[in-house]
Amino acid sequence: MNKFIVLALTGYFGLMLLGFAGLAGHWHATGLPPVQPIAFSHQLHLNTVGLNCTHCHQYADQGKQATVPAMSICMACHKNVKTDSPEIQKLSQAWEGGEGVEWVKVHDLPWHVHFTHKRHIKAGIECQSCHGEVQAMEQMRQVRSLEMGWCVSCHRLNAAPTDCLTCHK
Ligand code: HEC
Ligand code: HEC
Ligand code: HEC
Ligand code: HEC
Ligand code: HEC
Repeated sequence: MNKFIVLALTGYFGLMLLGFAGLAGHWHATGLPPVQPIAFSHQLHLNTVGLNCTHCHQYADQGKQATVPAMSICMACHKNVKTDSPEIQKLSQAWEGGEGVEWVKVHDLPWHVHFTHKRHIKAGIECQSCHGEVQAMEQMRQVRSLEMGWCVSCHRLNAAPTDCLTCHK
């Protein structure tokens, strides 16, 4: 028997419905952007600089996670671009010190949910269907609920699987 069902049978199911996972699931859904360690703007890099999503989120069509970009991607430009900016100086210091930037996670599904980017991207779904108008965002925020009903209704519309074990393993 799989882990999800075992936990459901031992009563964790009720507990989750009552509070814990409910809270975790709705935690970020307020739409307020978290404060990031460096003031990175999607709007600027997409509209003014003219980059594509996959220039930075290189693994979106290859695996489970789209991943937050490695610093080497930023430094390919910022070794030379805007080096007088305090924000870019923070970036360069993190790069030279080897510690990286600790971006605050914006989207975070509960542990019991299985999601994969690859399948959705290969099926031709745009990033914006799930992440909103990212090209207009000064600060990244979550715009969809990421609730079960949201996933399941799109699966129904597209004849994608809706059995429990598709998303819970
Ligand atoms: C120049 C590099 C760059 C480009 C281009 C870029 N991003 Fe990002 N993205 C980042 C960085 C850095 C972060 C982490 C900081 C933040 O959340 O603002 C991030 C965060 C995100 C997140 C939130 C991750 C989380 O923690 O949940 C999403 C969603 C996202 N990007 C989607 C997109 C989409 C969609 C596009 C194209 C329309 C795009 N990005 C283009 C660099 C980039
Ligand atoms: C079908 C909906 C959907 C589509 C399409 C989608 N995402 Fe996501 N994305 C999500 C969900 C849901 C999460 C949260 C995953 C988690 O918490 O495990 C997420 C998380 C992310 C993250 C945080 C890091 C990670 O990989 O978990 C980034 C970055 C991101 N998406 C970028 C993108 C980009 C870029 C595209 C387009 C190439 C894209 N997404 C397309 C639903 C989607
Ligand atoms: C293809 C080149 C390129 C890449 C890659 C790139 N940037 Fe930029 N970035 C720019 C340009 C161009 C500007 C605008 C400079 C200006 O205002 O004259 C900019 C501006 C910025 C600024 C605002 C600086 C300020 O004070 O005005 C920040 C912060 C920043 N980038 C962070 C990042 C981070 C973090 C990454 C990696 C996730 C990244 N950039 C990747 C080209 C790039
Ligand atoms: C915008 C529509 C849309 C949304 C929203 C969406 N999905 Fe999907 N999903 C699809 C489609 C279409 C497929 C089928 C892709 C294929 O045929 O390969 C799919 C496939 C999947 C698969 C692979 C199924 C398999 O056969 O193994 C998983 C897992 C999945 N979705 C989980 C999720 C979860 C979890 C969420 C919510 C957080 C979600 N999806 C939200 C459209 C969506
Ligand atoms: C397409 C993906 C998908 C399918 C199919 C799916 N779920 Fe979910 N489920 C989710 C996501 C995403 C969450 C977390 C977000 C939330 O709390 O709504 C979730 C949360 C849950 C929770 C926790 C409730 C809570 O309030 O946090 C339970 C219990 C659950 N699912 C049971 C099921 C059962 C039983 C089925 C089959 C009838 C099923 N799920 C099918 C995506 C899915």
